[in-house]
Amino acid sequence: MYRNRMLRVSIPLVAAILIGGLLWLPSLAAEPEQAPKPPVGLPPVQWPEDNLYSAAKVELGRALYFDKRLSSDSTVSCASCHAPDKAFTDNAPVSTGIKGQKGGRSAPTVINRAYSTLQFWDGRAPTLEAQAVGPIANPIEMTNEKTADAAYAAVIKRLDGIPGYVQLFEKAFGSKEISVDRIGKAIATFERTVLSGNSPYDRYMLNPSDKSALNESQVRGMNVFFNKAACDSCHLGFNFTDGSYANIGIGMDKPNPDLGRFVVTKKEEDKGAFKTPTLREIEHSGPYMHDGSLKTLEEVVEHYDKGGIKNPQLDQRMKPLNLTRQDKADLVAFLKALSGQGWQQISAPAKFPE
Ligand code: HEC
Ligand code: HEC
Repeated sequence: MYRNRMLRVSIPLVAAILIGGLLWLPSLAAEPEQAPKPPVGLPPVQWPEDNLYSAAKVELGRALYFDKRLSSDSTVSCASCHAPDKAFTDNAPVSTGIKGQKGGRSAPTVINRAYSTLQFWDGRAPTLEAQAVGPIANPIEMTNEKTADAAYAAVIKRLDGIPGYVQLFEKAFGSKEISVDRIGKAIATFERTVLSGNSPYDRYMLNPSDKSALNESQVRGMNVFFNKAACDSCHLGFNFTDGSYANIGIGMDKPNPDLGRFVVTKKEEDKGAFKTPTLREIEHSGPYMHDGSLKTLEEVVEHYDKGGIKNPQLDQRMKPLNLTRQDKADLVAFLKALSGQGWQQISAPAKFPE
């Protein structure tokens, strides 16, 4: 009798504890690590399901990003062309890779790339992960190997020989394996923490009665931007881009122009179209445009005021703007109000893995 009653009580109890435990354990294991909150004016970063945020991945990604040993002759890192002290660009019209080779396009900033899927001026990389491993296999940028496979094999072998890296890969991914996929994931995770928000413009949007956020010229320039010049027909939203492509005539007066998006889609209307870049930190990321052909923001404004450079595929939204001298000065002042905070805290590791 006695033993029976014990059983009757304990079986449901044990079952409850077991089921409860089973429910509770995986929920603990699956709880994703929280990424730091983005600065004012930016929404939360959408972390890809197969590459969620973790501090360990950021640490590894940061080391890889700044490490010149990712290039064949240890002379070039990602930061050579996307440097923190130059707002994550190189402030040159076109970039210089290994052995002093020049590429054909200007290095865009890495800041706020977290908010875009398509990468490169022509959008040929579908994710930051895919983009991040491109330069390692690019013979102008980082490798002297003949094929991408050989370039990746060489980088993996080099990293495998550095115990400090093997340890970082284990911390970030749970095992010692070093692969192209993991290199891409780690660098992309680091890149998604390179943000710019909390600019004077963001503070103004938060509280338009805050007279200290934008000065009078910047408020007028904001009006020109959104109304008279309608820059926001392409540079829109919190990151000042529609995430699309447009031909605004840059380089289209040259004998063999870079055809941009056309190279990817082969569609006639995409000839000379390039991705609309973010305008955040624009004051710090010149020279401007895919070919670095415009040196100053004043030159950029003149380009738009003229209605761009005529060519068969010129975007219909490009028209002469008839801006006054005051409008132009105000517009430039407004563009400078898009310089913010976040990315300045990021620097190279004090010591690289050994
Ligand atoms: C030799 C200079 C150079 C090196 C080294 C280099 N990049 Fe770039 N990067 C560029 C240039 C130039 C472009 C634009 C190319 C294009 O659009 O065709 C670019 C494009 C990008 C973009 C796309 C940005 C956008 O707005 O679409 C990202 C992200 C990026 N690079 C990250 C990296 C990372 C990560 C590394 C290291 C693994 C790296 N880069 C190494 C010059 C360089
Ligand atoms: C039709 C769409 C469109 C409109 C309208 C437009 N832009 Fe752009 N903007 C672009 C594209 C596309 C690029 C890159 C073009 C290239 O490199 O060939 C660009 C580039 C820029 C750049 C250089 C960015 C960099 O990183 O090099 C600045 C600055 C800029 N635009 C400001 C403005 C301003 C100010 C206005 C309004 C007067 C404006 N844009 C209107 C599409 C547009």
